[in-house]
Amino acid sequence: MIRSLEEEQNAKLFISASVALCALLAIAGCAKSEPAAAEKPLDPLSITLTDPDLIAGQATWGATCKTCHLTGLTGAPIIGNHEAWAPRIAKGLDTLYDHALNGFIGPDYTEMPPKGGFAELSDEQVKQAVRFMTHLSQ
Ligand code: HEC
Repeated sequence: MIRSLEEEQNAKLFISASVALCALLAIAGCAKSEPAAAEKPLDPLSITLTDPDLIAGQATWGATCKTCHLTGLTGAPIIGNHEAWAPRIAKGLDTLYDHALNGFIGPDYTEMPPKGGFAELSDEQVKQAVRFMTHLSQ
């Protein structure tokens, strides 16, 4: 079959357009199969912070509060869980400081022990850990 030059060019154009479309669809397909960032579990200790106050809170948290607040041990609200933290953050920082320093038993009879059971922590260290935990849980 003899084709005119124009027909031949049209055919080539059609092929390259199809190739480009396939490539686009492949990329779109790839992007879809990537897990969304929000689905990745939060790793509070590998988060890079710039505020020295939060960095200090992160260190204290990692050495003490993490025991319960990373996994929810004994019913502790898990760091980064917005739903669990929203009603607590709504109480205001002063109340949260008081409960973290002096202990608190919630409506479900789960207990936040005074200073998480780490009596050697200074009040300021506990407050910094509270600020770090609420910062990541907003
Ligand atoms: C032994 C486990 C445990 C450790 C360790 C621990 N917590 Fe908790 N924490 C809990 C539990 C359980 C609750 C939930 C209490 C409730 O509301 O019933 C809680 C709740 C809290 C709350 C919310 C209080 C409120 O009024 O809603 C704050 C703030 C808090 N912890 C801070 C800390 C800080 C800061 C540390 C580290 C210095 C820490 N916790 C260590 C178990 C722990």
